[in-house]
Amino acid sequence: MDDRQVAKWADDIVFSETGKHLDHIQQSILRGTWQRQKYPEIAKNCNRSSPHIRKEASKLWKLLSQTLGEDINQSNFRPTVERWQFSIVSSHFGDYAQVGKFKVCGNSPQSQQTPNSENSNQETSSKTKLQLRIDLGDAPEPTLFYNRTSELSTLENWILGRTRLITILGLSGIGKTALTLQLIPQIQHEFDRIIWRSLRNSPPLASLQTDLIQFFSQQQETELPYLIDYLRSHRCLIILDDIQTIFSSGQLAGNYQPGYENYGAFFKQITESSHNSCLILLSWEKPREIAALEGENRPCKSLQLNGLGTEAQEIFREKGLAEPEKWLELIDLYRGNPLWLNIVATMIQDLFGGSVSEFLSYDTLFLGDLESLLYQQCDRLSESEKQVIFWLASEAAPVEISKISANLELSPSSLLQAVQSLGRRLLIETVKQGEKTLFTLQPVLMEYVKNQCLKFG
Ligand SMILES: Nc1ncnc2c1ncn2[C@@H]1O[C@H](COP(=O)(O)OP(=O)(O)OP(=O)(O)O)[C@@H](O)[C@H]1O
Ligand SMILES: [Mg+2]
Repeated sequence: MDDRQVAKWADDIVFSETGKHLDHIQQSILRGTWQRQKYPEIAKNCNRSSPHIRKEASKLWKLLSQTLGEDINQSNFRPTVERWQFSIVSSHFGDYAQVGKFKVCGNSPQSQQTPNSENSNQETSSKTKLQLRIDLGDAPEPTLFYNRTSELSTLENWILGRTRLITILGLSGIGKTALTLQLIPQIQHEFDRIIWRSLRNSPPLASLQTDLIQFFSQQQETELPYLIDYLRSHRCLIILDDIQTIFSSGQLAGNYQPGYENYGAFFKQITESSHNSCLILLSWEKPREIAALEGENRPCKSLQLNGLGTEAQEIFREKGLAEPEKWLELIDLYRGNPLWLNIVATMIQDLFGGSVSEFLSYDTLFLGDLESLLYQQCDRLSESEKQVIFWLASEAAPVEISKISANLELSPSSLLQAVQSLGRRLLIETVKQGEKTLFTLQPVLMEYVKNQCLKFG
């Protein structure tokens, strides 16, 4: 945390307890103290006298001590906050299930008073205030994570720039969930509340909203009528994972299943209403209305997550593969998809004792367990999309759209829609050749589709 985040964090807690924000002088004292400045230096920075700052600081430490239930003063402020921060990050990212129970109320085992342990009570009470803010639901625990610095900084900038709706798009296994879990510790102090929910069981919007309101209303004395009211009254971060489950199978990308169309209006409302909260969607497909809402200067943005680059070699190192000089070739073939690379590395260990060159010596690309993953994604395609990818799989080189059109019995508009939809699912690759845009399938998908053609004729 930096000094600005610490001041905001303290302000949020004081506000939630007293209904009053810290004033400019109080924030300057916290920021200065965090930077290990003495009172005379803080006084100089805010054009006040040193005795005045000393007096204000004494009131501030008293206020914080009462609010946080722990004795806070100039000398212990920074170490105390660092201790809490460490414990909250490690409990969220080390033992989440416990935090999940902890958030609900003050009578969970962790928050009960332990005799003879006043310090631990104080710490627990202070931590409760923090933990009440974050509910990661059934998000998986973060595991090994390589790189993604540029994606993390893009997302952080969007959040700092008050983007209201962010969609992170990518094929299954590319790392959307892992990336977002990495993002949370980086931006958590920007928000008053953070909640993560997976839509894997396709909840109707009404039940999702009830769940979100239940969480947001925990620290609120009066219940507010609508979710948007909570998003206005606090800076909230909602992360919805596995969004693709609310879209129809067998149709173009981003079309809602019957009964789920109201999600579209919800996403639009989040983007267009005035508030400082943020909704992050993780999806295989881009929701239909996002394309119209997003833009560089708009509060709606999408991040297309591509594969890892050279850093994916760490996956192979960890799996103990041989011949590091061949690893980049493997990463390129599997387009840096970390899940695919993990599966392939296991296959290379099991079948070739870790020899990458032996694996690559075959003409065909082995898919193994990847087949079932690809099936899940390709099974969702519309008929016109299937026609396009089946035909593209027969072409070794990238082709122009006019060539696809000439070879398929699809009307021009159906063809364009199908190609655009495949792009929204990130299932086709584009290659620039001068002014022209050419289309192709990535090698893994090409192999998969060819296998399907052989199976089903
Ligand atoms: N940057 C990374 N470094 C190392 N491993 C990663 C990275 N990103 C993802 N992984 C690993 O790859 C696997 C797939 O990642 P993740 O579950 O985040 O993908 P996803 O895009 O959310 O997939 P899905 O859409 O199916 O939910 C996980 O085992 C994850 O730990
Ligand atoms: Mg995921």
